[in-house]
Amino acid sequence: MIQKPKGTYDLLPEDTNKWQAMEKTIRNVSKIYNYKEIRTPIFEKTELFHRGVGESTDIVSKETYDFIDRGNRSNTLRPEGTAPVVRSYIENKIYADKFPVTKLYYMGSMFRYERPQKGRYRQFAQFGAEAFGSTSPLLDAEIISYAVSVLKALKIKDVKVHLNSIGDAESKEAYKLALVDYLKDDLDSLCHDCNTRFKTNPMRILDCKIDSKSDFLQNAPKPLEYLNEASKNHFADVIKFLDAMDIAYVIDESLVRGLDYYTHTVFEVKANLETLGAQNTICGGGRYNTLVSSLGGPDIPGVGFAFGLERLMFALDSINFKGDPSYLHLYLMVLGEKQKEDGIAILNRCRLGGLFSDIDYMDKNMKGQFKLAGNFNARFVAIYGEAEKADGTINIKDQDNGTEVTISKEQLYNHIVQELMKPSHSCEGCSEDSCDTCDEEEEN
Ligand code: HAM
Repeated sequence: MIQKPKGTYDLLPEDTNKWQAMEKTIRNVSKIYNYKEIRTPIFEKTELFHRGVGESTDIVSKETYDFIDRGNRSNTLRPEGTAPVVRSYIENKIYADKFPVTKLYYMGSMFRYERPQKGRYRQFAQFGAEAFGSTSPLLDAEIISYAVSVLKALKIKDVKVHLNSIGDAESKEAYKLALVDYLKDDLDSLCHDCNTRFKTNPMRILDCKIDSKSDFLQNAPKPLEYLNEASKNHFADVIKFLDAMDIAYVIDESLVRGLDYYTHTVFEVKANLETLGAQNTICGGGRYNTLVSSLGGPDIPGVGFAFGLERLMFALDSINFKGDPSYLHLYLMVLGEKQKEDGIAILNRCRLGGLFSDIDYMDKNMKGQFKLAGNFNARFVAIYGEAEKADGTINIKDQDNGTEVTISKEQLYNHIVQELMKPSHSCEGCSEDSCDTCDEEEEN
């Protein structure tokens, strides 16, 4: 038997239900913040990630899925969404649009060749957002508030925003020099990977899983100490705006993030939940003021974040999130070979009208079909057998209250929609079993 590739998973129907509910909430919050969806290809030219994310990052140096296509081009399955969105922003000249600030969001699969464990996969999904066009700290604060609002809307608690600033290019450079100067005296105490990072990307040493807890690294210089005046002011304003919105955060001086493009604000959201296990960073992001220009675009700043959607799902497990219940409006029970032609026509009429409906394909008896209708959580069971065919009727049973009615078979659809499913709530004209507006009205 062929099994799925290592580090991947199948999302089975009972869970897709939960995902769809999660995605619906995410899209709704995105609308509230006025972000529009963008969809970019799942693979890009390899060069994009080398230049965008950075040669010496773990993602590019160890984790990309690269392939040469039949035209001898080197492509890479996207390991993250920011570089592709920036590429698209430049290529489609979105910056020349009528809006000075462009606010985009995306959801989709990303690919990293990592060591799989709970919450860490080789194919995983992200929901990310990117805002281009302004250096205003208002936008940094907005992007953090957007991430927090998604968690609020999903009712996920026990989360903490970790916040830091690595400053502008000048501050980053000053910091790197100070860090290298500090580290060079005791390289032997660092792990093998950190010795490599020392040469290629010293800032990454700060969040090394092995070394970061050591006294040597705990006492290392921190980026905040090397911010120049402009960077200090920017960070102070971000904090001021977060405070104004009552958004809680902790300053995490060791937070540097694993991608090269960040400048100024960096942040992560960590959830302290048993359902997540060790991979408890559910969101990461920050500002990137030079990425657009370094990928060949104009000098335009950006800021964004990305959530790991599997991790968000695990967080939702902690509140027993179920998603929308699965149900049918109608289960049509056709009894006997001769009734099938009429049966499929009746079913088709109901489906064209929008009723969630199904039928038996296995010539099951009545008992078996009632059982199936129950498994499908069907609200109405309509029975069409020999007797009904003879007098042109159909019998409908309401599974909620046990009432039964026999009507003309042509009337089935209209009777269900106009008589039986009439909303008991006040939302005018609503025939939905589950309607957000009505639910809200009922709650209030
Ligand atoms: P990142 O920190 O690499 O940032 O990934 C963001 C989130 O994706 C992580 O916090 C985590 O929840 C999830 N994630 C990452 N790798 C995996 C994996 N192997 N399995 C499951 N989940 C994973 C970025 O990707 C940046 N592009 C975020 C960003 C957008 N910064 C600015 N704009």
